Amino acid sequence: MTSDLHHEITQEVKRRRNFAIISHPDAGKTTLTEKLLLYGGAIHEAGAVKARRAQRQATSDWMEMEQQRGISITSTVLQFEYQGYQINLLDTPGHQDFSEDTYRTLAAADNAVMLVDAAKGLEPQTRKLFEVCQLRGLPIFTFINKLDRPGREPLELIDEIEQELGLIPYPVNWPLGMGDRFRGVYDRLRQNFHFFERTTHGSRAAAETVIPLGDPAIDPYIEPYRLEYNQLKDELELLDGVGAELDLDLVHQGKMTPVFFGSAMTNFGVRLFLEHFLTYALPPVAYKSDRGAIDPTQEHFTGFVFKLQANMDPKHRDRVAFVRVCSGKFEKDMTVSHARTGKTIRLSRPQKLFAQGRESLETAYAGDVIGLNNPGMFAIGDTLYVGPKLEYEGIPCFSPELFAYLRNPNPSKFKSFQKGVNELREEGAVQIMYSTDESKREPILAAVGQLQFEVVQFRLLHEYGVETRLDPLPYTVARWVLDGWEALAAIGRIFNAVTVKDSWGRPVLLFKNEWNLQQTMADHPKLRLSAIAPLA
Ligand code: G4P
Repeated sequence: MTSDLHHEITQEVKRRRNFAIISHPDAGKTTLTEKLLLYGGAIHEAGAVKARRAQRQATSDWMEMEQQRGISITSTVLQFEYQGYQINLLDTPGHQDFSEDTYRTLAAADNAVMLVDAAKGLEPQTRKLFEVCQLRGLPIFTFINKLDRPGREPLELIDEIEQELGLIPYPVNWPLGMGDRFRGVYDRLRQNFHFFERTTHGSRAAAETVIPLGDPAIDPYIEPYRLEYNQLKDELELLDGVGAELDLDLVHQGKMTPVFFGSAMTNFGVRLFLEHFLTYALPPVAYKSDRGAIDPTQEHFTGFVFKLQANMDPKHRDRVAFVRVCSGKFEKDMTVSHARTGKTIRLSRPQKLFAQGRESLETAYAGDVIGLNNPGMFAIGDTLYVGPKLEYEGIPCFSPELFAYLRNPNPSKFKSFQKGVNELREEGAVQIMYSTDESKREPILAAVGQLQFEVVQFRLLHEYGVETRLDPLPYTVARWVLDGWEALAAIGRIFNAVTVKDSWGRPVLLFKNEWNLQQTMADHPKLRLSAIAPLA
């Protein structure tokens, strides 16, 4: 490789930071995203992202929305610059669009920001996404939001993160007051106070005054907040005394989480968070392949498909394959190899995805995401490469929580039904399982979100001409049996669970609830179960 190219790739990788926000609906992800874009100069006035979300929610018919828009609602990668860093924010669909894509997006992220509502603490969706982050060992940065409203005590929230997630919290800043009395935060690393001025709904960057600890200039600011200031001093003393020191290695291993307090809506603490985050977050990491971990600065372009998005608009029946670039330099019109089929493809129409718009892309480096028009040849997990052949590890199937028989009431449509189900499964739109009872041949759809069912039924109708019926099943928990059918046979009957097989014929146990799972595990301690499917 020429030293110029090597230098260019190294520099580009070094300045990249890629992350996804994990949170429960309503914690403020849209608001925080918008504020980050505001600081990054990508938008000039807050409200743009929000307005889009409001529009979206106003439409009850998701499919209709999808059609009108002509582009998928879930395909969002936001790219912006801040202080020389190139930031890629991978949007994890939440709310009613929660689906396997939400999990898969984390397979393409190098860092995660865990957003927590100060009044609610940890919530179910956050915990689930956290587990996926842990599987990958992603560094997790915590932003505790809505400090401008009455919330739980900061110490209690820190404790919850430690006790429930097993992460060592390191509060980088600490709030001075809360709710109506929220005045700012103390930055423990830089040892200074950030006092904020409220802006109207935080539509512009907040005005803030930064004063070092011990500087008499803080007096007028804290005087009216004596009580809060004394509490802050006591709590800081406690943190300094018994709390852990910031250890970047532990942060990068996903074992320690830097914690920030703030209020996305009023912009309190957003800039401070962004700056510390950029300093401590991991640049693009080496991904594991069958040739070992691949250095992101190596000369050859490589990447893998982590998400496929079908366009619901019948006039634009294209599909977009999202590729996480893992190494080298991607250039428009380049020719790459497709590891699974051995074919050569020219990538002539790559797209960078910014919010709902699409911009065309000329170059990309590790940590970036490119959208490729997919003429049906890509599947989730596929590797693209230049140079020596390699394959990335792939993306596992995540534990589904919703199950339903998919029925085709019209026998004359049997072939189209089969074809559609197979193609949608290959594309990763939904997982398919089958009963072990040979008389029940109909597929069981297994999903992590309701939307996946809707998408499958909609697409079967519009793309394959098959009207289908769903019969929901009463299970909410799935576990793969790691040692296969023999291990299962050796155990004999398992009460409170049914056995089904996945698309690869492997045994999966379905339980009505977590409690039944716990009971089975207690009854059969030798049974090795996994919430994530082993890679096929
Ligand atoms: P989400 O994407 O995670 O679902 O959350 P979103 O940003 O939409 O925020 C959910 C609600 O919480 C919104 O209120 C939003 O304004 C509010 N919110 C977000 N951050 C903060 C914060 O720092 N402080 C306070 N007090 N509220 C916050 P909404 O009533 O649903 O919408 P809107 O009327 O504000 O538009």
